[in-house]
Amino acid sequence: MQKPRFWAFLMILVLFMAALTGCSNRAKDDKKDDALLLGFSQLGSESGWRIGNTISVQDAAQAAGVRLMLENANQSQEKQLTALRSFIAYRVDVIAFSPIVQDGWDNVLREAKEAGIPVIIEDRTVVTKDESLYAVHVGSDFYSEGVMAGEYLLKKLSTLPPETVLNVVELTGTQGSSPMLLRSAGFHDTVAKEPRIRILDSVSGDFMISKGKECVRLMLEKYGSDFDVLFSHNDAMMYGALEAFGEYGVTPGKDVIVISVDGEQEAIDLLKEGKVNCVVECTPMLGEAIMQIAKDLVDGKPVEREIYSSERAFTEFDDLSQLAPRGY
Ligand code: AHR
Repeated sequence: MQKPRFWAFLMILVLFMAALTGCSNRAKDDKKDDALLLGFSQLGSESGWRIGNTISVQDAAQAAGVRLMLENANQSQEKQLTALRSFIAYRVDVIAFSPIVQDGWDNVLREAKEAGIPVIIEDRTVVTKDESLYAVHVGSDFYSEGVMAGEYLLKKLSTLPPETVLNVVELTGTQGSSPMLLRSAGFHDTVAKEPRIRILDSVSGDFMISKGKECVRLMLEKYGSDFDVLFSHNDAMMYGALEAFGEYGVTPGKDVIVISVDGEQEAIDLLKEGKVNCVVECTPMLGEAIMQIAKDLVDGKPVEREIYSSERAFTEFDDLSQLAPRGY
């Protein structure tokens, strides 16, 4: 006959095993139902564009019946890495994130891959040694946006007297981010063939109104009336630049040619008022595409690896009277 001590030991063992299994299944059990669980790491709230992007993801998740775990990293790569690791620990079905800068993601992407969680890179791109570490990138073709900005300037120059020289100040976005690097490359490559277009300076305004204003004040102090063109990598910095122009008695759209990227409603209104000359579109409305891709990934359906939004430039040469409200 077994001793009572043996049965007591067995009971404790069984309870311990049950507790362990309970722990390891808790993340899954907490999901409460079968709806797809998406972990989304937003990089910050630096611009109207970014806020529009977050709203687009939230609205689309609700419409698609996708449960969303949303983390805002407030412009910190460190915080984004922490958010991604928390999604992995929670065992979400799919991860999506907009990487603040393009480098430094390989380790966390490998951890997601090892956990069997597919990753959607949205908006900005990453540079990785191993392309299999993420499933899809969905967003804008930032290089083409820079090209469109350059093409507008070439066209503008062709309308001015032949002896005209245009000195450009480039107001760039966050250092090391893909839109900053690619918009710059596209613009420079396009205007490089025209010796009458010269880049005076490139300064980073970090995609923010306040920093855009600060940078343009400095540029006006430094270059005065030699400053002919502003190429701002986003609308937010352009709004700050316009405030700085106001302080220095410079009339935007006339004394200085103003080019921006994003296409927020406010920028289009400024274009119609003649204070801005060209706005290149960059759509933040990526939510629906993300939900569809997430569902396809979970269902094991084939997905395109690179999905670009269709975009255009709005310029002073266009009839914009029929343009639909932008929605951001
Ligand atoms: O990554 C897209 C860029 O980031 C947008 O142009 C800008 O407004 C945002 O902050």
